[in-house]
Amino acid sequence: MLYLASSLTAHRAIFFAGALNRDLLPLTITADAPSPSSDSISPLYNIAELAQYNIPSVITTDDGSYAFHGLVTQALEIYLDHFFPLSPVPSPLSPTIYTCGPEPMMKRVAAIALAHNLPCQISVERAMACGMGTCQSCIIRVKKPDPAMPPLPGKDSCYRLACTDGPIFPASDLLW
Ligand code: FES
Repeated sequence: MLYLASSLTAHRAIFFAGALNRDLLPLTITADAPSPSSDSISPLYNIAELAQYNIPSVITTDDGSYAFHGLVTQALEIYLDHFFPLSPVPSPLSPTIYTCGPEPMMKRVAAIALAHNLPCQISVERAMACGMGTCQSCIIRVKKPDPAMPPLPGKDSCYRLACTDGPIFPASDLLW
């Protein structure tokens, strides 16, 4: 995500970060930034690693120990409902969502993105034993058959490898 952030300096971007509590956020919260309230979804320049790329952040903690009290997916949904209400036709100004983290969280992000008709890219998490396409431990099922791989019998899907085909996949393709 930090590498992605470094490549987005010519674009508007907002970073959403969530953890169980403040101590588990693997990021540097700047002491001089305003302290957000427990229901705030206003992006602030309060994460040093993102602020250096001029990217503001919305922080959430499950226990309310810092910033938005709740799940990061809840904050994202409120933000999108407010600023990008569902449109049947994607606008050129529509944002793209990029997500990484625990799979249940990413599934919810994918569902929110699809419900808002927004493109979303998922960095999938899979156990990777070899990392070079040999052991097949990192398979993930996707919707669109890859011409290079046979679809599953009777199904409009096939398997891809997170290590060599991904790990980034469009949310609309994933069958998890
Ligand atoms: S990690 Fe072995 S095939 Fe992907």
